[in-house]
Amino acid sequence: MKISIILGTRPEIIKMSPIIRELENQGLDYFILHTGQHYSYNLDKIFFEELELPASKYNLDVGSGTHAEETGKMLIGIEKVLKEEKPDVVLVEGDTNTVLAGALAASKLHIKVGHVEAGLRSYDRNMPEEINRVLADHVSDYLFAPTEKAKKNLLREGIEENKIFVTGNTIVDAVYQNLEIAKRKVNSLKKLNLNPEKYFLVTAHRQENVDNKERLKGILEGLELVYRKFNYPIIYPTHPRTKKKIEEFGLEIPEGVELIEPFGFLEFLQLEATAKLILTDSGGVQEETCILKVPCVTLRDNTERPETLEVGSNVLAGVNQSKILEGVEKMMDKERNWDNPFGDGKAGSMIIKILITNAKYSN
Ligand code: UD1
Ligand code: UDP
Repeated sequence: MKISIILGTRPEIIKMSPIIRELENQGLDYFILHTGQHYSYNLDKIFFEELELPASKYNLDVGSGTHAEETGKMLIGIEKVLKEEKPDVVLVEGDTNTVLAGALAASKLHIKVGHVEAGLRSYDRNMPEEINRVLADHVSDYLFAPTEKAKKNLLREGIEENKIFVTGNTIVDAVYQNLEIAKRKVNSLKKLNLNPEKYFLVTAHRQENVDNKERLKGILEGLELVYRKFNYPIIYPTHPRTKKKIEEFGLEIPEGVELIEPFGFLEFLQLEATAKLILTDSGGVQEETCILKVPCVTLRDNTERPETLEVGSNVLAGVNQSKILEGVEKMMDKERNWDNPFGDGKAGSMIIKILITNAKYSN
């Protein structure tokens, strides 16, 4: 069985890393196809280096563009590689344009598609990610749902049960595998002159938040209120999309908020683990905070990770400044005793086992 891992952005590299490690450990036949959707060093290469991943065999270098430009270029490039390499299975992870292009190109070539992190739904089609994940799920042959809830979403949409496998989320594997390594290799707190549980951490980069001046302004004003009330430094590793938009809209950075370059996974994981609380619109960060038992305030009106709300690790605050402050007040001293709903950290090996078993039966 030959497997093609298709990835292209920061979260995909991180969440595919446990699967890649498993493929390496078992000496299986696979290759990595990178679309080049992310290309800046600190959104791309740094993760290959820190997580010690083998280099991609192909990089399509599609770069940034409109949704159609990015996806269209990817489709053309992916099809060429798949026709040449003829893998038995293509694996994609998550909900980016890379995922849509990978799943679509492979399915049209009648190559089996495995969607890692299948079945997540925000039921908000304003998010490009929602469109990508729905379409990817519906052309996939193996749907690796992280939770029972995700499986139910798929069943409701008429996807056959025998295609769905509840595996947990590979982010748990990635957190468990890298937290100790982070302790040994990096000291992010010292670098930023921070004390454990005496700072807030922020990430926000979603198109529907940062490309909208009022929403982005609301987030920054919310952070200002939080700083005024609690006086803890607010560390904000800034995605290039957000940095560009702050400049374009001419927005002021409030006192107490420190915009810094994005971090590598080891540094960021360490910063997450000892933060007092995290504010984010990231999908992965909502999961990681839940796993690390750090309270989270989500700067969105909905989430495709409702498990985090149910266990109590996360609240939805949206982007209104007073709602953000309310969210922080509510979560500040939250007891960190919730269960992690995303699995036991063995999703990567379970996914490979399922593929191997199914390949045997289909031969
Ligand atoms: C993409 C995903 C989003 C995911 C995020 C992870 C889609 C539709 N969106 O959003 O789901 O949460 O990745 O971080 O696929 N840029 C750089 N360097 C880079 C990449 C991007 O400077 O390496 C800048 C460019 O100005 C670009 C902008 O960021 O126009 C947006 O990049 P893009 O890949 O289109 O979307 P993301 O916002 O990164
Ligand atoms: N992350 C990182 N450095 C940073 C910010 C985030 O390594 O400066 C990691 C974070 O730990 C998580 C992933 O990036 O695993 C989340 O990616 P992102 O928020 O870009 O995408 P999303 O999860 O929203 O699709």
